[in-house]
Amino acid sequence: MMIQANRLNKVSEYYFSSKLQEVRNLEAQGKPIINLGIGSPDLPPPPEVIAGLNHALLNPVAHQYQPYKGTVDFRKAIALFYQNHYGVILDPAKEILPLMGSKEGITHISMAFLNEGDGVLIPNPGYPTYEAVTNMIGATPVFYDLDEEGGWLPDLQKLESQDLSRVKVMWVNYPHMPTGAVATKEVFRNLVAFGKRNDILVVNDNPYSFILNDEPKSILKTEGAIDGVLELNSLSKSFNMSGWRIGMVCGSEHNLNIILKVKSNMDSGMFFPLQAGAVEALALSGSWFAAQNELYKARKIKILELASILGCEPSKGQTGMFVWTRVPAGNTSAQFVDHLLHEHNIFAAPGFIFGSQGEGYVRFSLCATEEDIDRAINRFQS
Ligand SMILES: Cc1ncc(COP(=O)(O)O)c(C=O)c1O
Repeated sequence: MMIQANRLNKVSEYYFSSKLQEVRNLEAQGKPIINLGIGSPDLPPPPEVIAGLNHALLNPVAHQYQPYKGTVDFRKAIALFYQNHYGVILDPAKEILPLMGSKEGITHISMAFLNEGDGVLIPNPGYPTYEAVTNMIGATPVFYDLDEEGGWLPDLQKLESQDLSRVKVMWVNYPHMPTGAVATKEVFRNLVAFGKRNDILVVNDNPYSFILNDEPKSILKTEGAIDGVLELNSLSKSFNMSGWRIGMVCGSEHNLNIILKVKSNMDSGMFFPLQAGAVEALALSGSWFAAQNELYKARKIKILELASILGCEPSKGQTGMFVWTRVPAGNTSAQFVDHLLHEHNIFAAPGFIFGSQGEGYVRFSLCATEEDIDRAINRFQS
């Protein structure tokens, strides 16, 4: 029997990969599961995107290898998007690298900049992939706690009282998943300065900035940020294109060339029609986001009603496509989620999967129809 590589000793299968199998098994037994667990948009992408993809299929170059750095049109569309929506000017030839979703960027960036034993600052709670990838490449996770009282923002002063000499990369993710917290411009300014003072590459993972968020921001807007900062972004959530696997990393030419050394040896470019479809998405006006957000707003009202019926206490001022709430006293997040799943056929994500600071919380997704959320509510009213 083959023995797995040592690099996997601290890595387990992604929670949703195994839990969703349990959910599917229950469905196969005829249980009417309402899935409020995952953040995969159920709404369709913009029609312009589908038309752009279909049209591109007929282009003679469509089925050939594509440039490692993405097509010129796609990079130009990303540059315009950053200018129009975040007020950030990027050079499309040098400061933008398309990715197959921001998730792959986490691995590429880690492989590009981290040696074995280097420290990596990781938010707790936070997206589990930061820790998994850090372990996979033999670097060392250094968690920084976020909490409700602190607005789920890092305490940089406290961090600087620690020995940070081994730390090379800091993951930040604002708007934050799972809590929906947003960073002000000042928070971004402080993060950029913190990175510079401590020689740490700060990477903002920014896939949620257009969901129920009045002021989408990029850390790259911060003056003098570009040399010490990278930003991951994605079309998954903003344009309902999670299955397309399409996103980007933006930063200095120097840093992107280092990432390209990894990426160009891992894939051979992205399918041309996907890039052509993405160009159409990025060119859409703000009315696309306004229409999506009307739907999410209506869903959120209902999810908050469900949370209140369940005795949960949502954190204040949340953005994004989730509702993050305390579980009723006396329950762990796993107990509460298993109770909901097995007694009421409702699946939600337990807070513990996002780190120890997520214990005591549950995350409800807005990627479910109002009808489904009503059905969930009705299960507690009859
Ligand atoms: C914080 C965070 N980063 C990255 C991703 C992955 O996004 P993508 O689909 O662009 O790979 C997710 C998806 O759930 C996420 O929550």
